[in-house]
Amino acid sequence: MKFLVVGGAGYIGSHMVKHLLLAGHQVVVADVMPAHSGVAWVNLDIADRPALDALFASHRFDAVFHFASFIQVGESVSDPGKYYQNNVAATLCLLQAMIQADVRQLVFSSTAAVYGDPQYVPIDEAHPKAPINPYGRSKWMVEQMLEDFDRAYGLRSVCLRYFNAAGADPDGMLGECHEPETHLIPLILQAASGRRPAVTVFGRDYSTLDGTCIRDYIHVNDLASAHALAIDYLQAGGASTAFNLGNGEGFSVEQVIAAARSVTGRSINVIEAGRRAGDPPSLVADASKARQILGWHTQYALLDDILGHAWKWEQQYPWR
Ligand code: UFG
Repeated sequence: MKFLVVGGAGYIGSHMVKHLLLAGHQVVVADVMPAHSGVAWVNLDIADRPALDALFASHRFDAVFHFASFIQVGESVSDPGKYYQNNVAATLCLLQAMIQADVRQLVFSSTAAVYGDPQYVPIDEAHPKAPINPYGRSKWMVEQMLEDFDRAYGLRSVCLRYFNAAGADPDGMLGECHEPETHLIPLILQAASGRRPAVTVFGRDYSTLDGTCIRDYIHVNDLASAHALAIDYLQAGGASTAFNLGNGEGFSVEQVIAAARSVTGRSINVIEAGRRAGDPPSLVADASKARQILGWHTQYALLDDILGHAWKWEQQYPWR
């Protein structure tokens, strides 16, 4: 099949592109950053409707994967316009171009942030949606738009609500690289490699086993395999829906740092700080729906594998 991967140059998108190419599909990446070498890339912002129309006119895509969004919760609070413009308005532009081009299948990168402060854990898809920041609201708005687009235009979609995407391709050629980096695991590993003096722990006064926040870390290649299954589901005529993607096991910040010390064999210095605004104490997925309906199985559920692959990437690319 032939797929358009919007945001295919980024962290999760680049792993998806590799997965699709290995499965023998044709892929075109649309991104404002260059895709990896050897991948067909169009320098395109999805807010640019004429450029999108031209792209859809020159390829017959079977479906679209949409990874292009801003993801920093704190920035979304200080600059919400940037998030509503890129994550909502530009996505609307993409959806309208898809309808015009008669491309009616989409896999959308959503987030556990649509749930807000959890009322219970593990969180299933029926959990109330009450995002607590503009980032989460922007993703929930798109999910709601997609429901309307299915009803009105027959655009079927799968929204994949990622918990904490982490890890790297085991071959060490792809990995996580945000600028600025705000995510826990890359920051820990940068402290392990000496690129940072220390990692900061945001809060030790949560009502968790050791007082630090608990998250459900899910390997980026397991996210990619779920996207491929989501396309199979849509191709088979599946109805629009959403799935949580996580391992169903939570690790505290302290546990992740301890595991990283063991995986890397390095000492990792820690700086204590207060809570980071907007951090819920515990986010753990109930992903049984994805297992039951998509037949999804994770390959790298162990935190040591997630950290080991990310560490290989960190060491292979010390120049980043
Ligand atoms: N943390 C630290 N120190 C750091 C960075 C993070 O202690 O330097 C802590 C955070 O407080 C949090 C945990 O580590 O408790 C994980 O933080 P991340 O920034 O790695 O990830 P988040 O859980 O904040 O966010 C992730 C995604 C978001 C998404 C959210 C919910 O990055 O895009 O999950 O789905 F919105």
